[in-house]
Amino acid sequence: MKKVAFLGLGAMGSRMAKRLLDSGAVSLSVWNRSPDAANAFATLGARVADTPASAASDADVVISMVTDDYAARNVWLAESGGALAAMKAGSIAIESSTVSPEWIQELHASTIVRNIHVIDAPVAGSRPQAEAGQLIFMLGGDERAIESVHDVLAPMASAVHVVGDVGKGATLKLAVNTLFAAQLQSVAELLGFLAKNGIEAPRAAELLAQFPVTSAPAAGAAKLMVSQAETKLFTIDLLEKDLGYAIAAAEKSGSALPGASRTREIFQNAKARGWGAENFSSIARIFS
Ligand SMILES: NC(=O)c1ccc[n+]([C@@H]2O[C@H](COP(=O)([O-])OP(=O)(O)OC[C@H]3O[C@@H](n4cnc5c(N)ncnc54)[C@H](OP(=O)(O)O)[C@@H]3O)[C@@H](O)[C@H]2O)c1
Repeated sequence: MKKVAFLGLGAMGSRMAKRLLDSGAVSLSVWNRSPDAANAFATLGARVADTPASAASDADVVISMVTDDYAARNVWLAESGGALAAMKAGSIAIESSTVSPEWIQELHASTIVRNIHVIDAPVAGSRPQAEAGQLIFMLGGDERAIESVHDVLAPMASAVHVVGDVGKGATLKLAVNTLFAAQLQSVAELLGFLAKNGIEAPRAAELLAQFPVTSAPAAGAAKLMVSQAETKLFTIDLLEKDLGYAIAAAEKSGSALPGASRTREIFQNAKARGWGAENFSSIARIFS
């Protein structure tokens, strides 16, 4: 049975780790910065570690699922307790957080001499999909290393797309989230436009969903934006972070994402109003 270490048990990581544990296919160790989230896994049969290094030291595969580049650097490379230095030769480091391709390359460069393979493996899908093992993985890395972790990803995934070498999964993920955020921005401002022109937002959301030009995520977002329920799937902070990484990656590659820069301003506006920890649907309030 493979030994897997899971680092980062937030909204997504805790659900993904639970899927792994429930599959019975791996022996799991877990670590989280705030110990309570990790301690909850002790009764479920996981080994709870007090540092990333301790979780990772005997693992064949180490998975990180944390906020951003800063958090991921801390988890993998911290001088005291970082996972990478403790990993055994031949093991595999999977970065599932949504991070910049630049950070993935930095992580990759840190592992080469140690014979550890890095795979970037961000996911599409939110909390319900993580809970149901229905995430869509986008993988970048060495083909043989990727082949060797399919059994580990399977309990968490509905689909696994191998995009290319190291960093390509992270790059595609930023494109996917940029497309999502652009749709959110359009829906939010159109609900405001329609309401101010006599079509109340709840009715407008219902109507927009009836047209072939409205994608399923846009229709779902419109429904959330007019709902009174406090659903939390994916925060404004996280989406704004992803837009920032996408724009930086575009600049670095000599490409341009002018639409993404405009969309990011909306998310920055929402953050400035103190809504960063709220669900993405809160951006609609800017236009209401
Ligand atoms: N939510 C979604 O729908 C969704 C979907 C796809 C991808 N993602 C991506 O998945 C990742 C996790 O998202 P999430 O929704 O699970 O976020 P979350 O609930 O906020 O969890 C963040 C995790 O990162 C840890 N963390 C934060 N800063 C850290 C640091 N400096 N050092 C070590 N650990 C740190 C947190 O630890 P504590 O518990 O101690 O705070 C927590 O375990 C993000 O990259 C996000 O963009 C999210």
